[in-house]
Amino acid sequence: MSRKILVTSALPYANGPIHLGHLVEYIQTDIWVRFQRLRGNRCIYVCADDAHGTPIMLKARELGVTPEELIARIGAEHQEDFADFLIEFDNYYSTHSEENRTFAELIYTRLRDAGHITSRVIKQAYDPVENMFLPDRYIKGECPRCGAADQYGDSCESCGATYTPAELKNAISVVSGASPIEKESEHYFFRLQDFSDMLQAWAADGHVQDEVANKLKEWFDGGLREWDISRDAPYFGFRIPDTDDKYFYVWLDAPIGYMASFSNWCQRNGEDFDAWWRPDSDTELYHFIGKDIVYFHALFWPAMLEGAGFRKPTRICAHGFLTVNGQKMSKSRGTFIMGRTYLNHLNPEYLRYYLAAKMGSNVHDLDLSLDDFIQRVNSDLVGKLVNIASRSASFINKRFDGRLADRLEAPELFRAATARGDRIAEAFEGREFSRAVREIMALADDANQYFDERKPWVLAKNPDTLPQAQLVCTQTLNLFRLLMTYLKPVVPRIAEDAETFLRIPPQSWADAGQPLLDHTIGDFKPLATRVEREAVDAMLEESRDTLASKETSAPATGPLVDNPIAEQIEIGDFARVDLRVARIEKAALVDGADKLLQLTLDLGGEQRTVFAGIRSAYDPADLEGKLTVMVANLKPRKMRFGLSEGMVLAAGPGGKDLFILEPHEGAAPGMKVK
Ligand code: MSP
Ligand code: ZN
Repeated sequence: MSRKILVTSALPYANGPIHLGHLVEYIQTDIWVRFQRLRGNRCIYVCADDAHGTPIMLKARELGVTPEELIARIGAEHQEDFADFLIEFDNYYSTHSEENRTFAELIYTRLRDAGHITSRVIKQAYDPVENMFLPDRYIKGECPRCGAADQYGDSCESCGATYTPAELKNAISVVSGASPIEKESEHYFFRLQDFSDMLQAWAADGHVQDEVANKLKEWFDGGLREWDISRDAPYFGFRIPDTDDKYFYVWLDAPIGYMASFSNWCQRNGEDFDAWWRPDSDTELYHFIGKDIVYFHALFWPAMLEGAGFRKPTRICAHGFLTVNGQKMSKSRGTFIMGRTYLNHLNPEYLRYYLAAKMGSNVHDLDLSLDDFIQRVNSDLVGKLVNIASRSASFINKRFDGRLADRLEAPELFRAATARGDRIAEAFEGREFSRAVREIMALADDANQYFDERKPWVLAKNPDTLPQAQLVCTQTLNLFRLLMTYLKPVVPRIAEDAETFLRIPPQSWADAGQPLLDHTIGDFKPLATRVEREAVDAMLEESRDTLASKETSAPATGPLVDNPIAEQIEIGDFARVDLRVARIEKAALVDGADKLLQLTLDLGGEQRTVFAGIRSAYDPADLEGKLTVMVANLKPRKMRFGLSEGMVLAAGPGGKDLFILEPHEGAAPGMKVK
């Protein structure tokens, strides 16, 4: 009986690009989904952008676009990135959809009518200039305990104290810079504690990993409390039924977005939504998430579903966080790598392979060590697995017209490999991908060893033993085909190319057991090439460069709106920027950098060299003698081409249309700009 499985990944926020950390999750989920399909199960994979909330509202405002425009653009970018990493959703939607509004209202009203919603007036920080309530993260001030400046409204990064925004000293609103006031408003709460017994029983019943169950136990022991699910206008989200100006908190409608995306898919595919979501459904529901959002998925979400009369998840699969070279991803080290930057330099399947080779079913963090990445891809994926095909195919093609022999020379070797299929499948099923990959590579070792022992290159030299060379290569190509099928969830495109080369239809797990004999294969084209260290270095450089071009001149990479996630700074941060008028004495092209110009600037006596990403807009000759504004106290940065001692400011939509100041009366090099 084939299983019916609905799978989700967490919905990425629609205010920034997908980075390699995110991809741990989407790649993990996609591998599992592809595995299920390969096994003949019916597996539907849905996701969406998480489009609501204050950060998205403010980001859109800052960019001068509507939130709808922002989320449409980011949503499109996300989908391109996912597609290029071969992540195959059945549906990718948005939480800002009519389906989601309908389900959010339905679930809320059912919870309310069953008595699980209460309301009361609470006091909160309010920005009197912007006329909005401020989430803790939008208030900064001095820590009430240690006095550290510039701390968020909920906790101090310096001494670790936690407090309420009202306790911060000299607090200001990050949005307007004004001092927040306290203001009352009515809020709606979901009574999570009503579901305490149900949740404890559910968590103890194998729906979460053991580590997660332990964490949940701590929360149960501390007592579950009601959850604030409303926000006041202005807010980008869904208005709460029967209110004028209250909105659902983004985390209320976000998980409901799983249902909405699935329902949208059902409508387009004639599928019965209720059959998947009613409490006695015989289908399975899997949520893949990061460990940071367990609270929402293992407490609020099952409670909401239970209270509103829907089925609960079969399993929550939490994973750890990605580190790069053993450390948190870092912009200055170039290890905060966007998915798109990776794709500009490297094959997406190499990341899929590497992550799979290291991924287990636990919530430990996972390290992308770039040396190890190069080494494993080259020695295992290319050097072991693909190598079986390339060394065998050349004999079959050159000496036997592409024809495989009509029998296996070592059927026991093939049987031993197919017999391992069950263990490999078990590993995939249990999300022990590293074990699955290890098993597959051990079989690849066996195949290579067999090839080396039988020496077809020697056999082929003697007409008497030539037929044995065909047998040996038939044997190894059969092993290759089998292993490629096992690895297909991880490297689907390489597997597809292998099918093309072997001239066989798309393989399923069950096909793998039958040997391929007396069959003509096609020409071998390299299925995967080695990773070059230069490509990895170039990726790191571009990750640093993205930042560098932001530092040297924001518009260099295009309009500001193409970099929508610049962090907000405060007026105090801005005051620390020393802006000076500078005269461009010399502007020169930079060898090997088509976006850069090397500028020699006169700061009224002092000379500075700055590399600026404005070459697309100016002929160097046109710049000489002109005035510009520069950040004079920017820490010098070592770039590939030399030291950059500051940053020039330029404005405009980017490309050809950048503006720089014309010299005019009153401005002189070195003058402070206010
Ligand atoms: N919008 C929420 C999820 C709502 S689900 C109903 C959110 N979005 S997110 O963009 O911040 O993260 C999306 C997923 O990526 C989360 O599961 C998160 O844990 C995961 N990751 C984000 N950064 C990550 C790493 N550095 N490493 C591994 N996973 C990471 O949370
Ligand atoms: Zn402190």
